[in-house]
Amino acid sequence: MNPPPPLLYGPGALTQVGRLARDLGFRRTLIVADHGMEDAGHIGALIATLSEAGVECSPWSNFSANPDSAMIEHGRQFAAHLDIDSIIGLGGGSSLDAAKGINFVLTNGGTMKDYWGYGKTTQPLLPMIGIPATTGTGSEAQSYALISDPETHVKMACGDPMASFRYAVLDPLFTLSQPPAVRAAAGYDALSHAVETYVTTKRTQSSQLFSRQAWRLLHSSFAAPASLDSNADLQLGAWFAGCAIEGSMLGAAHACANPLTARYGITHGIAIAIMLPHVVRWNACPEYADLHPNLSSYLAELAVGLALPLREYGVTMEVLPRLAADAALQWTGRHNPRPFDAAAAQELYQCAF
Ligand SMILES: [Fe+2]
Repeated sequence: MNPPPPLLYGPGALTQVGRLARDLGFRRTLIVADHGMEDAGHIGALIATLSEAGVECSPWSNFSANPDSAMIEHGRQFAAHLDIDSIIGLGGGSSLDAAKGINFVLTNGGTMKDYWGYGKTTQPLLPMIGIPATTGTGSEAQSYALISDPETHVKMACGDPMASFRYAVLDPLFTLSQPPAVRAAAGYDALSHAVETYVTTKRTQSSQLFSRQAWRLLHSSFAAPASLDSNADLQLGAWFAGCAIEGSMLGAAHACANPLTARYGITHGIAIAIMLPHVVRWNACPEYADLHPNLSSYLAELAVGLALPLREYGVTMEVLPRLAADAALQWTGRHNPRPFDAAAAQELYQCAF
């Protein structure tokens, strides 16, 4: 398990990014940030601190949630003539994944499919800083980019030791602009990372330490109203959960959620909230009791107001076998504590129906 990148954490951390980038040797950097970051004024604030430190920057936002390899190729083309020496990802998990994805194809050529798996690069990647603006994915702690295949909708996990951010910057002030629905979906996703990583077949003593710390910070702050304090805990909890994923990967809730996002456009965190309580009941791991005496009921309570039964999203009984076949192909299912295949996925979808 790789050690997580160092962290710059606290209200106002964003204003120190210029100095940090200069100290890391950045001179010309690509800023990969989603459209929401521009509207919230965050890109302007980032450019201000970088310019003050003498770092030139080119922002790029031409991608959407769950970036696919075609969007990454557009980003590569944009960056190819800029002679950049570094990349900064700013925004939700999609921005951070897109930053990593562009780095792979810009420095090593080919397409994202070539990096599906771990350690496929032959050339060094550019140094990167990750600045998450939502409190959820934990992508800033991971050496994997999750990029979709535009044809099959499979999320490809493309990892490399060099795809880790050189620094992650957590500024809780940043997260206050999250709409409540984004905070809830991203926060539930982070909770699921703490829960799923705690029991996978790849878990280790150290990944479980991260999972427990993530759970401790997340479960109380998730239900609390948005504030600087509760968002700071959510943000740090999401970071610890991301560190846990790096060591232990994920489980069946993510395997079942991904086809719901791909085929029905259900937001990742909501798809997770639909599935996770059922997966926890189905796995029935004794270790869950370390987190909560009745974890599946507790997670179902936390999902109230966020997730509805599957049929409410236009999913029909007839389509469940196809969704289940997709779920069985997802990489996260391989590490679930209870053996997971298409029949298992179908059973779980029926529970959530
Ligand atoms: Fe997730």
